[in-house]
Amino acid sequence: MTDVTLDVSTAAAPPLPTVFQRYQESIDFALRDRLSDSTSSLYSMLRYAMGWSDASGSPVSAPQGKALRPTLCLLTCEAVCGEYKQALAPAVALELIHNFSLIHDDIQDRDEYRRHRPTVWKVWGEPKALTAGNVMRIVADTTMEGPRGDSVSVEDIVTVIKVLTEASLEMIEGQYLDVAFEGRSDIGMKSYLDMISRKTGALIRTPMHVGSIMGTDDQAIIQSFRECGRSLGYVFQIRDDVLGIWSEENTTGKPVGADIRRKKNSLPIVHAMSQADRAQKHALEHVYEKETVEDADVETVLDIMDSLGTEVFANSMAADHCERGLEWLQGVEIHADARAEIEELSTFLLIRRH
Ligand code: IPE
Ligand code: IPE
Ligand code: MG
Ligand code: MG
Repeated sequence: MTDVTLDVSTAAAPPLPTVFQRYQESIDFALRDRLSDSTSSLYSMLRYAMGWSDASGSPVSAPQGKALRPTLCLLTCEAVCGEYKQALAPAVALELIHNFSLIHDDIQDRDEYRRHRPTVWKVWGEPKALTAGNVMRIVADTTMEGPRGDSVSVEDIVTVIKVLTEASLEMIEGQYLDVAFEGRSDIGMKSYLDMISRKTGALIRTPMHVGSIMGTDDQAIIQSFRECGRSLGYVFQIRDDVLGIWSEENTTGKPVGADIRRKKNSLPIVHAMSQADRAQKHALEHVYEKETVEDADVETVLDIMDSLGTEVFANSMAADHCERGLEWLQGVEIHADARAEIEELSTFLLIRRH
């Protein structure tokens, strides 16, 4: 396992790789086109979730998502020599599916802040937030009905719609597992990896999968990108898990130790449970059996993780998955600039702080 130390508390927050800027305008324009039509208050919730308006519906410029999934999709399409606009419809669909997942995730995780603002359920209550999420999901489907580039076949569109539907289902299955694992102290590494490959991996793998479908017919290339995306999905969620324990509130917009308070089976806890000695395991189980996790409990868990080198382990595991992902692209003929950008983006996922 690669030995890397990426201490979230001391490392400087790295900027987004420049490739994010290249597609930003196209993605933003297409997203707004989907969600700006209706004046109904239902759609105001969606625009709030996207960071375009405040809770009363007035336009604001609030923190927005990184648009990682559409960026991955468009970059992949270009990497395999496609015209990136060919992949714009699924790229936008993926960002909407992602935002649907966040609206529901914040209800499921009882999180009150997302992107430094109160969550949709915190502002409007759960019943309306559930509806907003459902609408966001259906609007995602409608993006695939728009005009398509000349070189995109009907077969490709049908395949991509199927892949998007499967990814949405997989993500929801993963969310179920994540919630079902809460408070348990018997979740092993295999179950953990299966859970994250669904809840998060599906929406990181799929952008590279559909981006390559839109850019090439070469099945070997499509498979390589899909598998690269699968590995990057692990990288992304493992980093998220590290941030969910050790990051400062001001970088993630969420409280420190949030995943411990919620008794999540994120990677650090799965590692600590598996490596703990008898007394430590007993202490961890005690915290995970409690109704309410107090500050002192969080400290106990953090001390145990410290003594077991959990943060270094998690960072190494993410680095290994990153290496494995990029290996999938080694034998594939892709544009040299695109290869460098994919490598830069993958490395960013290892060290990102938001
Ligand atoms: C956060 O994803 C949710 C996870 C799947 C871990 P992002 O970090 O990509 O969220 P935004 O869209 O940039 O806020
Ligand atoms: C998010 O997982 C996965 C989905 C939204 C599908 P988390 O619950 O770990 O992500 P954050 O930390 O709230 O963004
Ligand atoms: Mg969450
Ligand atoms: Mg969650």
